[in-house]
Amino acid sequence: MCGIVGYVGKQKAATIILEGLKRLEYRGYDSAGVCVLKDGRLELAKKSGRVEVLVKEVARHHFTGTTGIGHTRWATHGGVTDANAHPHISSDGKFALIHNGVIENYSQIKTFLLSKGYGFQSETDTEVLCNLIAYHYAKEPAGASNPPHANGHGTGSGSRFLESVRKALQHVEGTYGIAVLCVDCPTELVAARKASPLLLGVGDGEHIIASDASAIISRTQSVVYLKDGEIVHLARGGFTITTLEQEDVSPVVDKITWSISDAEKGNYAHFMEKEIFEQPIALENSMRGRFSEDGSTANFGGLNLTASELRQIDRFMFCACGTAWHACLVTEHLIERFARLPVEVDYASEFRYRNSPLDRNTLFFVMSQSGETIDTLAALREAQRKGYRVLAINNVVGSTIAREANGGIYQHVGPEIGVASTKAFTSQLLIGAMVALYIARLRDMSFSDGVSYVSALKGAPDLVRQVLKQAPEIKAIAKRFARHADFLFLGRLSLFPLALEGALKLKEISYIHAEGYPAAEMKHGPIALISEECPSVFFAPKGEIFNKVVSSMQEIKARKGPVIAIITEGCELPPGLADAVITLPDCHEAVLPIVAAVPVQLLSYYIAVERGCDVDKPRNLAKSVTVE
Ligand code: G6P
Repeated sequence: MCGIVGYVGKQKAATIILEGLKRLEYRGYDSAGVCVLKDGRLELAKKSGRVEVLVKEVARHHFTGTTGIGHTRWATHGGVTDANAHPHISSDGKFALIHNGVIENYSQIKTFLLSKGYGFQSETDTEVLCNLIAYHYAKEPAGASNPPHANGHGTGSGSRFLESVRKALQHVEGTYGIAVLCVDCPTELVAARKASPLLLGVGDGEHIIASDASAIISRTQSVVYLKDGEIVHLARGGFTITTLEQEDVSPVVDKITWSISDAEKGNYAHFMEKEIFEQPIALENSMRGRFSEDGSTANFGGLNLTASELRQIDRFMFCACGTAWHACLVTEHLIERFARLPVEVDYASEFRYRNSPLDRNTLFFVMSQSGETIDTLAALREAQRKGYRVLAINNVVGSTIAREANGGIYQHVGPEIGVASTKAFTSQLLIGAMVALYIARLRDMSFSDGVSYVSALKGAPDLVRQVLKQAPEIKAIAKRFARHADFLFLGRLSLFPLALEGALKLKEISYIHAEGYPAAEMKHGPIALISEECPSVFFAPKGEIFNKVVSSMQEIKARKGPVIAIITEGCELPPGLADAVITLPDCHEAVLPIVAAVPVQLLSYYIAVERGCDVDKPRNLAKSVTVE
């Protein structure tokens, strides 16, 4: 949600910033802007529209400065206009600022600043913060600067510029990842974060501030993940980190483990397509090294819980948002089915305000691809505040959720760039299945059942490969149904969450109205939608409820509703019942949701392409939702 980049070095800042913005564009793409410092002036270009519009605009200006900031926006306060695009410039012309987050008390601050003579060009909360910094800078005595700092990075922890940002932030309520330039400090940049992601790339003679690693990976793999309440000051070729309260922080420089090619489309038309087809490898990476030597259970290095501590747990709570919430619902089913322990799943956004009573021996999990979703982070903090240990299932290494959790499991699927989650989802399903196995084996699951479960999970990547081979047939089905305006997705038990996910995928990227329902519930309302114009996608795997699902299909067919059936090998449908059939390989219950995810991902993808939609950047959405 909003991408920010800042550069201080020897190269042309605008070029590096624009490259970073292109890689961050999946975070928000309403408008974009860049500002560089040159000869004591702020040179600014900003436009509503995609980053490519900004690239053309910047090309007209020939910005040559080597210090700069850039932003790609997902609008919160103020509509999508050039004026509301970032960077914002303070009304005295001294500061430029980019911001990801929401300043909640902006209206009080604005009233105060208006009374002090500051003017505003935009409707944004960001411009208020920019002017507040200018106000504090004007109040600080000129020349106020602390001595250089001796933590090895040697920029000095204090300066009038830095202290003005610090003072302004002390008056701000809300969330922010910001980067600020000051005309009086041509080779400096100040950046800070609170509940919005921010990291510092440490390169060869240069530093880059960014919302996430994809924006810096082409320049450096050395990275410092900033924590909430920290301020970084880039100056004199180095950097210092301090807290809002002016305490010094010793930086820890980490290495990013993936490379630039992981964040590129290669020969695929879209990131989403690439990520769908990467799933076999992503699943292999998620499970690598995570099975016991005797092949009967899972192993997780980072849970920070002993087997006997886990044995005390008699209830689980899972919180997440969006697609990750669907993965939690499948995990609930598997834990209850195989470990026979109760599980509750809640939307993180609901949990944080619901004040729900939790049992004492509850183990709390959050699931989040990005590790930055604000509601999931807030749910984690709320559970910790109540004294619960919280484990995170998360993909992005070094993310806020990963750092704040008491333990967890990394997904290891590499960067997911397509806004609609695919490979992260199937990896979450896999890890959920492994968690269920681990807990079940601490309880009543036998050694031999454990061995068959493990061997089934190990076979999941190949089964997914088999489904991916059906892409041409699924594409043909997509073409037939791409012009319908409503869809139902229906499934039962562990595939009910897959029905929700199938409907979400279709909505997200093709803007077709779709609903996911338990197949039998369809009679209690959604059946009213059924006509020739509303196809139903059914999950009908082999098993005890197959015949029941077939009955639901008959009810749809009797009302002229087209039926797309996703069955497993060995299932026989009555002739003429389904208008299109996709057959999945027969598999273990724990693997079925993973395999079943693939056809609905492909169906949605090809329908969206057929409708000419921008698959990787669907309207109004953002990959990582860091505002409430
Ligand atoms: C956004 C994305 C979804 C994602 C959800 C949760 O809404 O568009 O694809 O599932 O956030 O994201 P997380 O990073 O917490 O898994």
